[in-house]
Amino acid sequence: KPMIYYPLATLMQANIREILIICQPKDIPRFQDLLSDGSHLGLDISYAAQPCANGIANALIIAESFIKSEPVALILGDNIFYGHNLSQILKPFGDHQEGSHIFGCKVNDPKRYGVLSFHSDGSVDAILEKPSAPPSSYAVTGLYFYDHQVVDIARSLKPSARGEYEITDVNNVYLSQNQLNLTLFKEGFGWLDSGTLEAMHQATTLVQTIQEREGIQIACVEDIAYRQGFIGIDQLEKLAAQQETSPYGKHLKRLLIASREIVLT
Ligand code: G1P
Repeated sequence: KPMIYYPLATLMQANIREILIICQPKDIPRFQDLLSDGSHLGLDISYAAQPCANGIANALIIAESFIKSEPVALILGDNIFYGHNLSQILKPFGDHQEGSHIFGCKVNDPKRYGVLSFHSDGSVDAILEKPSAPPSSYAVTGLYFYDHQVVDIARSLKPSARGEYEITDVNNVYLSQNQLNLTLFKEGFGWLDSGTLEAMHQATTLVQTIQEREGIQIACVEDIAYRQGFIGIDQLEKLAAQQETSPYGKHLKRLLIASREIVLT
């Protein structure tokens, strides 16, 4: 399954259908080949190039004409979110209007991430990007919801010591305005960042284990599109038929049969 399906599935579970994929110029044709305009999934997908890797916050500036002055969600392409109640958790955020909302998750190696520092009453004091002495074990995940201010905030930033426009700096501006909201994922929730080879290997193994054991497909975008009401059963049937011979296609076929049973009974 293509990696891009994971972040796509997460956005779809937040009921988001208008999506801009930002990637290196050379990768645009590959994503287009895979997803085209997204209409087969009931989505509206467009593409933009980020010519140099100068930070996540810079992507928000690239996306300016896409964002206009509307609220926006940002998800990093190497982040995988998995939990049985993910769609419940994310549902309210598709309509997110004001300030910002970020998600934290307890991890063993916080140094690799943006790390939350808390006041004694549990409120957020600051976010530190890849600190050598992490103030907590809570990392900020790569899923962010922002209001219309975000592009201006991104424009106001200076590059960090590693030469990047940091998303952590965007979040700290919202925090200084008292407009940063946080949800901590419960222990056991599956958040994976597949940004290193080792992490990618771990993620693949975990996903494969759960899928095989439970007979499910994680981040099955066709399934989510159908459940969210983005596509009807006829379109689901078409998509299943196109992939009939692969295990993924067989899963879609089973889903289709189950859905037909529900529709008929
Ligand atoms: C980025 C962010 C970091 C966040 C992480 C989540 O790190 O800068 O704050 O915790 O994504 O995956 P990077 O991918 O640049 O190492």
